[in-house]
Amino acid sequence: MIREVLRMGDARLLERARPVAAFGTPELRALLADMRDTMAHLSGAGLAAPQIGVGLQVVIFGVRRNPRYPDAEEVPDTVLINPELEPLGSEMEEAWEGCLSVPGMRGLVPRYARLRYRGYDESGAPIDRTVSGFHARVVQHECDHLAGILYPMRIPDLSKFGFNAALFPDQDLGDED
Ligand code: NI
Repeated sequence: MIREVLRMGDARLLERARPVAAFGTPELRALLADMRDTMAHLSGAGLAAPQIGVGLQVVIFGVRRNPRYPDAEEVPDTVLINPELEPLGSEMEEAWEGCLSVPGMRGLVPRYARLRYRGYDESGAPIDRTVSGFHARVVQHECDHLAGILYPMRIPDLSKFGFNAALFPDQDLGDED
């Protein structure tokens, strides 16, 4: 079921999410089905459970060829539960980000260039990956949602924050994200 995505300003987006205690449950399956439906409907690159009002440490992400990210590297479709992130080195990279909770806008956000992340999939199987670039960026953005952090809170120079249509008049990025 497609769910309403909370928008920046809603206090629920600022809360810290709780760990998932049991895997493979009907409740977890239903949550993930709703998250997938909602993300697909909005052509998002990722979605965190708090964005649909569920305060659990669950994120999904994945990028195939997406018209909204024409230059983006592909990222495998992933369910990541109870994640732990470990930056590898101190190198940061800046790139433009958007968020389904901040529709119609983009900001230039620094993120760690390399990252190890660990967690569990929906059946409780461990995930342990070392990634870089866009994949690392997506994971950092989604896991920030679990700590109540939205990407505008990470923008060091607010002159690099604005509306898609004004920032990128030649691209059709749409209003939704
Ligand atoms: Ni987001």
